[in-house]
Amino acid sequence: MAGEVIIALDFPGKKEALEFLDKFDDEKPFVKIGMELFYAEGPDIVKEIKARGHKIFLDLKLHDIPNTVKSAMTVLGGLDVDMTNVHVAGTKMMMEWALEGLEKGAEGKAEKPLLIAVTQLTSTDEQRMNEDILIPGKIDEVVVKYAEKAKEAGLAGVVCSPLEAGAIKQACGDEFLTVTPGIRFGGAMICDQSRITTPAKARGMGSDYIVMGRPITQAQDPVEAYKRAMKEFAGE
Ligand code: C5P
Repeated sequence: MAGEVIIALDFPGKKEALEFLDKFDDEKPFVKIGMELFYAEGPDIVKEIKARGHKIFLDLKLHDIPNTVKSAMTVLGGLDVDMTNVHVAGTKMMMEWALEGLEKGAEGKAEKPLLIAVTQLTSTDEQRMNEDILIPGKIDEVVVKYAEKAKEAGLAGVVCSPLEAGAIKQACGDEFLTVTPGIRFGGAMICDQSRITTPAKARGMGSDYIVMGRPITQAQDPVEAYKRAMKEFAGE
């Protein structure tokens, strides 16, 4: 269900990730498993956290030839993930094949996993995009065009900065999902994120899901921080 806070489980291993989740009693937050935890522990960590009742966004950002991505997505579809992703830069064909693979892997499952795509990483600024990736033009326009490509390929949405969510909704429609990291509580530590906003503002800007890592995982009371984020994101 859109409107949720996804907690980034950026932990080095299973022990730390499960100790963190043990703090939650009744709540079963939607969680994001990224490369660090997945490469450390393998597919079993996905199955174990899923079995505890959490929804899972498996953030592996696949980008390879269409056939390889399709085969990999078939495997991921079998893991019962709720959301996973690829890079738009892999081409429309790669995204279409990724979706086919994911759907094939998830055949017969009650819930269809959502496939979303990364437009430009938030660590890539316009100068780097122009000079290193050799894509000319304005980054905001490229991000919207990339989102349109993901929509054409049949994907459910994109990962983007909350600051881009409005323009993407305008171009791709309200149903097209925006999943946005770069969220901080008002007046809190910024760390290495640069284009950030608060949960409440993200909702106002058109985010369907916000991804929050350190403001929750490193909070003195992570359960309280999670509840606060959910409340603010719901506009309460
Ligand atoms: O700790 P913090 O809230 O900054 O964590 C944000 C999470 O979102 C991290 O797991 C990071 O890898 C991820 N992310 C991001 N920017 C992107 C894509 C993913 O910050 N463009």
